[in-house]
Amino acid sequence: MDHNKSNDNNNDSRNVAFYVREANPIDLMNPGISRINVDYWTETYNAGFYLHYFLTWPDLFLVAVDPNKEIIGYIMGKVEGEGTNWHSHITALSVDLFHRKCGIASDLMKRFEEVSNKRKAYFCDLYVRVSNQVAVEMYKKMGYVIYRRVLEYYSGDPSEDAFDMRKPLLCDVDRKSVLPAPKDPIHPDEVPE
Ligand SMILES: CC(C)(COP(=O)(O)OP(=O)(O)OC[C@H]1O[C@@H](n2cnc3c(N)ncnc32)[C@H](O)[C@@H]1OP(=O)(O)O)[C@@H](O)C(=O)NCCC(=O)NCCS
Repeated sequence: MDHNKSNDNNNDSRNVAFYVREANPIDLMNPGISRINVDYWTETYNAGFYLHYFLTWPDLFLVAVDPNKEIIGYIMGKVEGEGTNWHSHITALSVDLFHRKCGIASDLMKRFEEVSNKRKAYFCDLYVRVSNQVAVEMYKKMGYVIYRRVLEYYSGDPSEDAFDMRKPLLCDVDRKSVLPAPKDPIHPDEVPE
């Protein structure tokens, strides 16, 4: 596994040293992840859910670590679907408040897409709150398009719609995964796996 590489991106607004590696269950007890999760925009789950991701898709659960071994960002996801719908899905991406705008999310996304390509995914997708402008714009900059709107995807009072965003990967040479969605907007229970 070749995830223990230094970040050598010199274009970051702040020069922050970090490296990226696969996560492990001990990381869940690292205060870093809980600290990162104290954030309105970050989706959080129970321990069993994270453990399932660790065990099933270890190469798609990556953490960014600072020189003091503190976790300062993470991305977790899975692969699913059949045929040309075989794709990777980003379930959560978050960077610690004090380390944002340093290129950490860009690095994690790049590595996630590299693994997705190795796993022959046709595209990578994710859900994001329609009000999360920073993330929506960041994903667009990274080549993601809004595929469709998922109505009331996020429960709460009030509930909120999600954008289902996609980026075609190397296997999708004809970019078929980003042709107009058959139905848009869509209800959560209509979304095929
Ligand atoms: C969205 C988030 C993951 C970005 O992480 P980050 O490490 O700060 O992002 P990066 O430094 O890699 O920036 C990537 C691009 O996003 C854009 N961007 C990031 N934060 C921005 C901000 N606050 N304002 C404007 N643009 C921003 C920039 O265009 C940047 O590209 P550039 O470096 O070429 O200018 C981070 O703000 C976060 O954790 N937010 C809370 C959780 C969240 O919203 N997750 C996504 C849910 S789907």
